[in-house]
Amino acid sequence: MNKEVPGNYVETVTLSNKEELRQLKMEDEGGRASKDSGVYLTWEDLRVTASSGKGGVRAILQGVTGYAQPGEVLAIMGPSGCGKSTLLDALAGRLGPNTRQSGKILINGRKQTLAYGTSAYVTQDDILMTTLTVREAIYYSAQLQLPDSMPLLDKKARVETTIKEMGLQDAMDTRIGGWSSKGLSGGQKRRVSICIEILTRPKLLFLDEPTSGLDSAASFHVMSRIVGLARQGGRTIIASIHQPSSEVFELFHNLCLLSVGRTVYFGPANANEFFAVNGFPCLPFSNPSDHYLRTINKDFDQDIEQGHGTQKTAEVIDILVKAYKSSGTYQQVSQRIYEIQKTVGGALEKKGSQAGFLTQSLVLTRRSFVNMYRDLGYYWLRLAIFLALSLCVGTIYYDIGNNYGSIQARCSMLMFESTFLTFMSIGGFPSFVEEMKIFGRERLNGHYGVGAFVVGNTLSSLPYILLISVVPGTIAYYMTGLQTGFDHFIYFVVVLFVCMMLVESLMMIVASFVPDFLMGIITGAGIQGLMILSGGFFRLPDDLPKPFWRYPMYYIAFHKYATHGVYKNELIGLTFPSSRTGEPPITGEQILTSIWQVDMGYSKWVELAILFGMVVLYRLMFLGIIKVAEKVKTQYKTIATAPPEQSKQVMGEIHQKTWSYVQKR
Ligand SMILES: Nc1ncnc2c1ncn2[C@@H]1O[C@H](COP(=O)(O)OP(=O)(O)O)[C@@H](O)[C@H]1O
Ligand SMILES: [Mg+2]
Repeated sequence: MNKEVPGNYVETVTLSNKEELRQLKMEDEGGRASKDSGVYLTWEDLRVTASSGKGGVRAILQGVTGYAQPGEVLAIMGPSGCGKSTLLDALAGRLGPNTRQSGKILINGRKQTLAYGTSAYVTQDDILMTTLTVREAIYYSAQLQLPDSMPLLDKKARVETTIKEMGLQDAMDTRIGGWSSKGLSGGQKRRVSICIEILTRPKLLFLDEPTSGLDSAASFHVMSRIVGLARQGGRTIIASIHQPSSEVFELFHNLCLLSVGRTVYFGPANANEFFAVNGFPCLPFSNPSDHYLRTINKDFDQDIEQGHGTQKTAEVIDILVKAYKSSGTYQQVSQRIYEIQKTVGGALEKKGSQAGFLTQSLVLTRRSFVNMYRDLGYYWLRLAIFLALSLCVGTIYYDIGNNYGSIQARCSMLMFESTFLTFMSIGGFPSFVEEMKIFGRERLNGHYGVGAFVVGNTLSSLPYILLISVVPGTIAYYMTGLQTGFDHFIYFVVVLFVCMMLVESLMMIVASFVPDFLMGIITGAGIQGLMILSGGFFRLPDDLPKPFWRYPMYYIAFHKYATHGVYKNELIGLTFPSSRTGEPPITGEQILTSIWQVDMGYSKWVELAILFGMVVLYRLMFLGIIKVAEKVKTQYKTIATAPPEQSKQVMGEIHQKTWSYVQKR
């Protein structure tokens, strides 16, 4: 929700359309005016450490200094594992919980938070809704991100231009595809991810390896468009790059060369002179970026004979790192950072403007509905299985009749339907986890809030859950020949529906703790197993051990309310002949109280109401958990990234530890 996600929601978005036009004109005029309102980012002595589980601390970034300014693209390069992604994460304020950072990161010379929504970040892995086409994915995203005041036609136009900018026009109507089906190629997915994040024309853009997976021509086109974006709107772009071709390399303004978390070079992209002065000249006609990377990659030292005589790469890196620290380029960079901090001021625009809560909920409902429709694993497969199982139930208990033996059969059948059939609703979990991942990415970028997601997911799933409870439920009910009244049938189906909703809600909560789908399914199954055990069927309520099992498990397990509800629904009003001749017939009420120990103090409707209440409670719990997790994370971050004066001590300690750890190795 927008209020929680204050952001520098890009100027173009916050302005009305007239002003937007004016701004576009300004962009055409070279964008000098908007350069003033751009984002200057400086970081000094940035250090990041990660705890490695066994009490060890590992330094990932070791005192990195640099800056990024409007209208320019800063390329971060280095061998894989050198800390490129970590640097981007640190700058964007989204480091993982097991890391600590110190150093001074300033935005426009001030300490400002860059958390949710204040910048766009295209992560290294593409997390996209695989069932949508390129056009749909980007259009839904535009509806979520762009303000309600912007006419629909303009949004469509923005989508089309953005798609063309990224050269995706030929793949527009292709499904993205992913773990379930093949669709776009890796490079195309990369570009879709970029499209989604540049829709709002953010002022500050982080790109993690935007060209990985692209061929050299495509990466040149994509990068030149990104550079164009930077130039036009006075945008600040920081991109980590893996193996750029010389054409792509020439597009960059500044270069940050990292090796094992240390700065080998930071300055104008052409570092040939720096390398040459220090004894590693770049041969004519060779790609400078290849040369830099080869010089500082020490991963294969043992296998490959180096071209630098007998020198080990580690030594080479040491030489370069030291040389850089004492070079004129470093002085210039420090000077520039000082200037930026002194002259540039101004807080980032805080009042973000994006689609309202209602629009977002509606768009998310629609998107999720389409996704559920197209993803076979979400509901269709379950429908097929439930149909088959209902036929099985129907044939096993076919025309159950009213004799003494039917009492036990009836209760087993009802137990199976309300407990085991609904239990299988965990089958949709993998698909839900995929949706959660997309939510995670979009949430981090501030596209929408948890509330809109929960509303969207709940509304879109209702028709499907209704379908998978009504159709199989009807078959099972009428084949078995349960009570004839229509209201009894409706009650039965509604209980199935609520139980499936409950299982889905439970799995949502599980997903917020265990994002991995295999572990999630096992956890969810375990929790439900526990509830089924204590639900009053496998051990009668009065026989359940009092601590834990009777209080509170018996009352927490929704299976208690479900089974008792359907038992009351079925048995009240029926009479069965006694097993012994001459004895009076047994009433349904007698069975309920004497056999099942069902509390007859309240009606079946109360049981149903409790079940509905549980659905609401579970969904609210999911919402609450995510909100609390976010709060804790931000609070943790403020502690971990306290102002340098305060954090120095803490970090000092850690660095001592790191140092001794390094020495031990
Ligand atoms: N949260 C973390 N916990 C532990 N180690 C990490 C963490 N994040 C990154 N690392 C380690 O830091 C190094 C740099 O990672 P990364 O920044 O992803 O490199 P790259 O330059 O390839 O993007 C890697 O060796 C990685 O294993
Ligand atoms: Mg990386």
